[in-house]
Amino acid sequence: MTAETTYVGMIGIGYVGLVTATCLAELGNHVVCMDIDGEKIAALKEGRIPIYEPGLPELIEKNRERMTFTTSLSDIFDRCELVFIAVDTPLTFTGDADLSRVFAVMSALPGLSADHHILVMKSTVPVGTGSKISSELARQEVGNIDYVSNPEFLREGSAIKDFLNPDRVIIGSRDAEAGEKVAALYKNLDTPVLRTNIPTAEMIKYASNAFLATKISFINEIANVCEEVGADVTVVADGMGYDQRIGKHFLNAGIGFGGSCFPKDVTALKQIAGNSGYHFQLLTAVIEVNELQKRRVVNKLQKHLGTLADKTIALLGLAFKPNTSDLREASSIVLASRLLGDGALVKAYDPVAIPYAAKAVRGILLCDDILSAVRDSDAVVLVTEWDEFTDLPLEKMKKLMRRPLIIDGRNFLDPQKIRDAGFTYEGIGRS
Ligand code: UGA
Repeated sequence: MTAETTYVGMIGIGYVGLVTATCLAELGNHVVCMDIDGEKIAALKEGRIPIYEPGLPELIEKNRERMTFTTSLSDIFDRCELVFIAVDTPLTFTGDADLSRVFAVMSALPGLSADHHILVMKSTVPVGTGSKISSELARQEVGNIDYVSNPEFLREGSAIKDFLNPDRVIIGSRDAEAGEKVAALYKNLDTPVLRTNIPTAEMIKYASNAFLATKISFINEIANVCEEVGADVTVVADGMGYDQRIGKHFLNAGIGFGGSCFPKDVTALKQIAGNSGYHFQLLTAVIEVNELQKRRVVNKLQKHLGTLADKTIALLGLAFKPNTSDLREASSIVLASRLLGDGALVKAYDPVAIPYAAKAVRGILLCDDILSAVRDSDAVVLVTEWDEFTDLPLEKMKKLMRRPLIIDGRNFLDPQKIRDAGFTYEGIGRS
C-alpha cells in the first residue's frame, strides 16, 4: 500500500454498497466494507459473492488486497475519513422511504474524536434528509463530521460499467472542501462532475428515476393505442428516438417496469411532493399505467384461449430485467399471481432467478430449462428479455406445446420468424 492510498469506508454491503466498494477499490482506494449481517461478511471473506452481477466476482478477486470486510463500525471510523452509507431505504406503508437503517447508522456513530470524517450518502433518501442530518450533526457537535450527498445511478446488470463510465457524478455538499474530497475519488473517470447543494443532489436522483419511469409508462400507453389503430410501437419509438430531444433510450414498450428502484422511487417522490403539499399528478398516472400494464398480458391470453382456468401458461423469464437475479417488483410476480388466481397452471424458467423464485411467488412450477417449461403449455409468455431467449428452439417447442401461441411481453422476438415457425405471435403494441 502506498502512502497516498485513500481509505474509504462502506456501510451496508448490499447491491449498491458492494458494487461501489469494488469499483472504488478498482480506482486504487482501500475500501473497508462493513455490514451488520455477519453471514454475508463471512461469505465475502471466503470469496463467496452474495449477489448476482456480471463481472463483479472477477473484479472483487482482482482487488481483494484492497478490500477488507468487517462487521465493526469502529474498524471503519478508525481507518477512514470518507465513509459511505449504502444501506437500503425500502418503502414504508405510507409510501415514504424507510430511513430506519440510515438513522441506525447515525445513532451508532462512534463517540467524539478529533479525527475528521465525511459521511457520504449513497442510499436514496428523501429530499431534505441530508440537510436535516447535516444540521443535526452540527447541533450535536458529534465530532468533526461533514455530510455529502453522492447519489448512485447504477443499473443492475451493468452496474460496473455504469460506475466506471458514468454519464455524470453528482456531489451535493454544504462544505466545499468535503465535496472536493469526495470529487477526488472520481478524478480518474472521464465524466462531468456536478457540484450542488445537498437537496439538489437528492432531487437529481429522484427526478432522474422518475423521468425514466415516466418515459416507460408513456411508451407503454402509446403501445396500447398502437394496438387499437394498427401501428407498431417499436417503429414508433424508433422514429421518435431519432429526435435528439427525445432520444432512443427507455422507449421499449413492454409489460411494465419493476425492480428495487423505479417503483420505490417514483412512489417516494410522489410522497415527498405530497408531504410538502403538492399533488404530483403525472407520477400518479405513471404508477397506475405501470400497474395496469403488468396485467394486459392476461387479457391477451384470454383473447386467444378463452377462460384461463385449467390452461397451462409457461413464463420465460422471471427476473425484473435480464442479467440480474432480482425479483423485486418484477412484472412476472404480478402476472403469475393473476394467472394463478384465474385457475391457470403456471410454469416458469429463468436462467438465473429460479433459486429465488419459490420465495417470491408460491404456486409456480419452476423448471430447469426452456423445453421443460413449455411442455404441455397452451401459451408461452416472454417476460424477461434474456439473451438465451433470442434463438428459441421453436420446432421442439411447437411439438411440446398444446397450442402454438407466444405472447412477447418485451417485443424481443422476431415476429416473422415466430410466425414462419407456425406460431401465433403477439407482442405489446405491435398489432
Ligand atoms: C434504475 C436506473 O436505471 C439507474 O440509473 C438507477 O441507479 C437505479 O434504478 C437505482 O435507482 O438504483 P435498474 O432498476 O437497475 O436501474 O434497472 P433499469 O435498467 O433502469 O430498468 C428498470 C425497469 O424498467 C426494468 O423492469 C426494465 O425492464 C424496465 N424498462 C426499462 C422498460 O420496461 N423499458 C425500457 O425501455 C427500459
